[in-house]
Amino acid sequence: MKFETNRNITKKKPYRICFVCLGNICRSPTAEGIFQQKVRECNLDSFFYIDSAGTSAYHLGEKVNATSRKIAESHGVSLLSQARQFNSKDFYEFDLILAMDSSNYADIMKLKSGITNSKVEMMRSFDLDGLNEDVPDPYYGGINGFENVFTILERSSEELLKQLSAYIVNE
Ligand code: 4NP
Repeated sequence: MKFETNRNITKKKPYRICFVCLGNICRSPTAEGIFQQKVRECNLDSFFYIDSAGTSAYHLGEKVNATSRKIAESHGVSLLSQARQFNSKDFYEFDLILAMDSSNYADIMKLKSGITNSKVEMMRSFDLDGLNEDVPDPYYGGINGFENVFTILERSSEELLKQLSAYIVNE
């Protein structure tokens, strides 16, 4: 999709993105780590504020899932976040909230009712190879599930950064 936002992205007003899944221990922290790494590689750190959260409180305060960390490490990405629960204040803290699957999307929209701040989109609306599908939950799957999630998130993050870069203004 062609993503549109209503403002420029500047160092003074960085673009704030929150990646959201269910547990905040597999998919969304992986997305956060990959996107952060891409931004760093492009020297765009100061234009973005990046975080992640889970719609559930199942894993509050926990480190990222060990297999997710291992797969990410093997691609040169460190995942250091601790799980937190998404809440309605986040609509005022973030410009863009990216849901990993349609159930996360529905939970976010339930919380959002009446709040006009922030945009909510599916992460895979940025995937050129599987538009709007879910990022599959790897929690109960094998190692291939985790590798697949990494590949999907890397491809989607690449496109996300490409589209947002059009709004970056050096001033
Ligand atoms: P995530 O994966 O949403 O990608 O962090 C899950 C982690 C834990 C559970 C489900 C999904 N769980 O049911 O505990």
